[in-house]
Amino acid sequence: MRIALSTGGGDAPGLNAVIRSAVLSATLRGWEVLGICRGYYGLLGEDEVIPLNAETVRGIAHMGGTILRTTNRGNPFEFPVQQPDGQFAMVDRSDEVLRNARNMGIDALISIGGDGSLAIAQRFYEKGMRIVGVPKTIDNDVSGTITTFGFDTAVSTAIDAIDKLHTTAESHDRVLVMEVMGRHAGFIALHAGVAGTADVILIPEIPYDLAKVCEKIQARDKRGRHFSIVVCAEGAYPQGGKESIIGESLPGQSRRVGGIASRIAWEIEQMTGKESRSLVLGHLQRGGMPTGYDRLLAARFGGAAVEAVEQEKWGQMVALQSPHIVTLPFSEALAEPKRVDPNHDIVRTARATGISFGD
Ligand code: F6P
Repeated sequence: MRIALSTGGGDAPGLNAVIRSAVLSATLRGWEVLGICRGYYGLLGEDEVIPLNAETVRGIAHMGGTILRTTNRGNPFEFPVQQPDGQFAMVDRSDEVLRNARNMGIDALISIGGDGSLAIAQRFYEKGMRIVGVPKTIDNDVSGTITTFGFDTAVSTAIDAIDKLHTTAESHDRVLVMEVMGRHAGFIALHAGVAGTADVILIPEIPYDLAKVCEKIQARDKRGRHFSIVVCAEGAYPQGGKESIIGESLPGQSRRVGGIASRIAWEIEQMTGKESRSLVLGHLQRGGMPTGYDRLLAARFGGAAVEAVEQEKWGQMVALQSPHIVTLPFSEALAEPKRVDPNHDIVRTARATGISFGD
């Protein structure tokens, strides 16, 4: 038996722990393991395919990133190819992937990725590939699994930043607006904002009214709390408005959401007269060592993915449905993206403890 692993989309702390766990689980069964470098690039002859064994995965479980490297531009079904006129055309190279995988004697693929990678995996499954998935995202926006590895680490990094912002905001009587990742989902902002005791949390699932945000800040001011911390998800947007997009994306890449914090800080300053500053926490949330929680979840996912291959659960991904790891069809996980339920107990607790969502 020869299996291959690939990591696609944005990296997430815990990827290396999945790789280590899957490689050891497979090699101890007597299987051979190959690592496809940079998403599917390795199977398109655009990058390497490397052997993975106990030696190559030694000492990586605690490391951020992915030893296989990754990309969010390598969809083989819509691969950006530069034309003689300099423009990019989207070319279907999926048959090349299948052919090369066959020529390399790959019996099954474990694809580790977020919603984009799982959608690609579903298409390969429909073309006959023996493939299982491991959900990965710091955004926690994949349905069917209670959480994904990387999310807990990102939230911890955001909480640490909020703690640090409190002291400087309080010293200067300022409003500090911190933007966190999450694309169209507000999980990182919500969890970090509540745990870090922010005063205002803005998420895409609850469009905000800036006047309400300012009311909250001014009410705090009146009570002698002359500073405020606003945590906003990068995908947050005002009522009747749209999410903000950063510049132009590269060919084959999805739109880059973000840049909202500086606008909000400026508007708050205009409306309240209070000095305001903003920061974008950005890719710090994707880096560093995975937390213990993420490392364990990643290890469990890696082991469960190899079990899924053994049981020929093609077209399925592993998922956490506490206390168990289960498997479910990609199609089920992809049916609907996961978003914050505005009536979830974390939102209700936030409101009950005085946090404003600007609504
Ligand atoms: O999906 C993970 C994520 O970090 C999002 O939260 C964010 O919008 C996006 O990826 C950033 O992507 P990139 O690494 O291409 O800037």
